[in-house]
Amino acid sequence: MTDPKDNPAKGGVAAPSPPNVVEGSPVYPVGSRVNERGHLEVGGCDVVELAAEFGTPAYVYAEDDIRARARAYLSAFRSRTDDFEVLFASKAAPITAVERVLADEGLSIDVASGGELHVALRAGFEPRHVYLHGNNKTDEELREAFTAGVGHVILDSFDEIERAEALLDRPQDVLIRVTPGIEPSTHGYVQTGQIDSKFGFGLRDGLARQALDRVRASDVLRLVGLHAHIGSQIFELEPYVKAIEALAELAGPDIRLLNVGGGLGVAYVIEDEPPSIEDYVDVKVRGIASLFDPTPRILVEPGRSLVANAGITVYTVGTVKRIPDVRTYVAVDGGMSDNLRPIIYGSRYEALVANRAADVADIPVTVAGMHCESGDILVRDALVASPVVGDVLVTPATGAYGHSMANNYNAVPRPPVVMCGGGDARLVVRRETFDDIVSRDLDG
Ligand code: LLP
Repeated sequence: MTDPKDNPAKGGVAAPSPPNVVEGSPVYPVGSRVNERGHLEVGGCDVVELAAEFGTPAYVYAEDDIRARARAYLSAFRSRTDDFEVLFASKAAPITAVERVLADEGLSIDVASGGELHVALRAGFEPRHVYLHGNNKTDEELREAFTAGVGHVILDSFDEIERAEALLDRPQDVLIRVTPGIEPSTHGYVQTGQIDSKFGFGLRDGLARQALDRVRASDVLRLVGLHAHIGSQIFELEPYVKAIEALAELAGPDIRLLNVGGGLGVAYVIEDEPPSIEDYVDVKVRGIASLFDPTPRILVEPGRSLVANAGITVYTVGTVKRIPDVRTYVAVDGGMSDNLRPIIYGSRYEALVANRAADVADIPVTVAGMHCESGDILVRDALVASPVVGDVLVTPATGAYGHSMANNYNAVPRPPVVMCGGGDARLVVRRETFDDIVSRDLDG
């Protein structure tokens, strides 16, 4: 994600966007276009009609986009090796329907909690294709995972090694999570591979080697590989090479799997130019093949790069407030409850008036949410086509970490999820109701 201090949109306003910023844009789902009515179309569905049918705010996904990215990962691997596995990092979008699509494409899955495990099994992933992560798995989560028969558990701490061993009465394949001491340029909150990290076992301090020795001495924990994830929304490829080089010092005959994490960045705004899936896979496969002999099975676990650009959020404009010589606020019917990323990471997004998608976007506005704090801004300094009350406004690239980090601030019901494909739309998560919001409140 872009650090707020690097955000060019903060200092000034960009040039007017061309009328059609959708077709071929790296930000919108594959196949998006502006239709004959001048409306945004996603997955063959008219977004203005979706807003009328399902209400707003709503998350809309294009199924073809998810499938295309899953296939891009698989084919990038297939043309380089036959020993690999692509895992969906389900934290990006733990939605049954999204996971079903990815299971159907032949992916495995990374879960980082009992809840994510529950969704993955419900979505139809075979337990042996599930990888359980987490820096503080509870006894209950470990027990559930062992009972379900998950294929692999990624061990994150010495305490967890003890805990897992005590709970097992049969062998369990495990990987050791290593923090290789690599810091890619991304937001500090989502760097995960540095030595000063709550995750995993450090290399430099010798803890990773100690953990390997400890697990090798176990009767029930069966060491099969290593895992390292260095961070998220990464636009460079060199840090992956460095991480693989660092891990190579732990190579050994029992290191048969090497899970080198997710992390590939995506385009949130048109200027973003992340590496391609092809180049990302190439760097990992070449790096591992050149440093590990024999070459282990190569695993990656992308979250964001599989689903971010497949999703958009659809809002309705409720007020347009013009403060002379200061700014125009366009307030929508959602905000930091459905997209936390701007307020926690300063993340940038685009905005488009979906019902006049072919018009020139030349009015600088700030898209604000409906929550009770001034920081509830979804898009700062967006250029949109003269917004008016009742417009359907869309922010693209919200398919990852949008729904999964949604919350009920101001007792706002969380939005539904609509899956679109070939012109058909189906509701795959219903909107929360006020009754849902109080459903856990007890009288007394
Ligand atoms: N594997 C592990 C162990 C991870 O911790 C993560 C993400 C992934 C895979 C997937 O990484 P991805 O391919 O999505 O970059 N809430 C933040 C993202 C936090 C990601 C943390 N770990 C956001 O909204 O940007």
